[in-house]
Amino acid sequence: MKASVVANKDFTVGKIDNRVYGAFLEHLGRAIYEGIYEPDHASADQNGMRGDVAKLVKDLNVPVVRYPGGNFVSAYNWEDGVGPREERPTRLDLAWHTSDSNAVGVHEFADWCDSVGTEMMLAVNLGSRGVDDARNFLEYVNHPGGSYWSDLRIKNGRKEPFNVKMWCLGNEMDGPWQVGHKDADEYGKLAANTARAMRMFDSELELIVCGSSNADMASYPDWERIVLEHTYEHVDHISLHMYFANRDKDTPNYLALNHKLERYIETVAATIKQVKSKKRTKHDVYISFDEWNVWYHSNKQDREILDGGNGWPHAPGLLEDIYNFEDVLQVGLVLNSFIRHSDVVKIACIAQLVNVIAPIMTEKGGPAWKQTIYYPYYFASVYGRGTALNLLVNSPGYESNHEDNTPFVDLSSVHNEDDGTLSFFLVNRHGTESIEVDIDLQGFAAGEVIDHQVMTHSRLDAVNTAKNQSEVAPRKGEGAKVADGSLRLTLPPYSYQMVRVKL
Ligand code: AHR
Repeated sequence: MKASVVANKDFTVGKIDNRVYGAFLEHLGRAIYEGIYEPDHASADQNGMRGDVAKLVKDLNVPVVRYPGGNFVSAYNWEDGVGPREERPTRLDLAWHTSDSNAVGVHEFADWCDSVGTEMMLAVNLGSRGVDDARNFLEYVNHPGGSYWSDLRIKNGRKEPFNVKMWCLGNEMDGPWQVGHKDADEYGKLAANTARAMRMFDSELELIVCGSSNADMASYPDWERIVLEHTYEHVDHISLHMYFANRDKDTPNYLALNHKLERYIETVAATIKQVKSKKRTKHDVYISFDEWNVWYHSNKQDREILDGGNGWPHAPGLLEDIYNFEDVLQVGLVLNSFIRHSDVVKIACIAQLVNVIAPIMTEKGGPAWKQTIYYPYYFASVYGRGTALNLLVNSPGYESNHEDNTPFVDLSSVHNEDDGTLSFFLVNRHGTESIEVDIDLQGFAAGEVIDHQVMTHSRLDAVNTAKNQSEVAPRKGEGAKVADGSLRLTLPPYSYQMVRVKL
């Protein structure tokens, strides 16, 4: 089987915002406690943060991490997480039916972000709280000093403000599962008022308003329209979430789900344009896809723990999806979709980063290791920076539930003008056939392949574990060559590949 592609230097989607490779960490299960924070762990630093986890995060070059939720934020009192640790209250978390010692709060999280070289994106609580709490939190975090909340921060050990630029106006407020859930009108008004108050403090903040919590929400895309009609001039991004599942063990349809993702993005992008033209403004609003990942393997365990209902455990193992090789393909496909839509998607966060539906897993007192999906996320984050190309793809395909013709070959490409490289991220959706791909490199100087990584496995359900951490891992590819102005390579059945060409 063969596929042909045209990659023209001047036919671009645009410059990718690096924040599209962001991540998310919530006070949920073992994401924070036993995830990034475990003071008794052999690798812990003076703040109790695990060094082995920090190293894996650093390698990913994560540009931004959203915190502290998620559903958790809708009943969170940020003040509980500041001040002397021994005086911090243990609270019940209504979202996940657990308790939280508050040993980690904004100070500890900010220090951790510094240590792994990432930027912090904070969410304010618009579920159980509102405008007043948001402005107090902002004053605490960003004001230099000389006011009640900023002086409290200084008293708590942090003289310089944290200077957080990105702020989410609540989380998934369209969801009835949310503490303080609201309808679109009610939320739109609250978000606009909160944004106005926050901008009175600092007009340069980047504010993110809640869109739909998934592409199947009943009111979508009306939710976006109504919310944006209230907030358009006051916000910079609208947040979308989507999780991917293969509950029916139907691989062809599972691997076609990124069509649904792309339609979701395109519909919301059209709604943004519609509201913009109605408002007659030059101001642009983009998409912050601040929760996405595969999530379905662990639902049973999750329900069992929550429905047990006999207590409020601290940091139980919730939503600990063990990812398999098939999920490598899915995550590669989703990242390709974000690169192809990087003109409208400026922020995206894999949800989440450690233990909870995450590329990194830990054992209490034991090792931290890379789940299978770590790799496609790593390759895109590290090598997917620059200008996204608008590729012309001619590939045989199949009819899926999500598109009449789902091409067997899915790929994206990024031209990095700074280091003179062209990177390709490719997925073969065909389960039994190899595909020869010919990529016509138009307008680029002749180049050579400098890196070629391949992921395949004889079993779609192969996983990495604490004992066998490299069952699913990339290996060096062979046979990719640039000749006569074309990059040629072969994609084995069900494979993920990353190829870099030095121009
Ligand atoms: O990431 C897990 C949960 O999924 C988040 O708390 C919530 O925002 C979403 O529904």
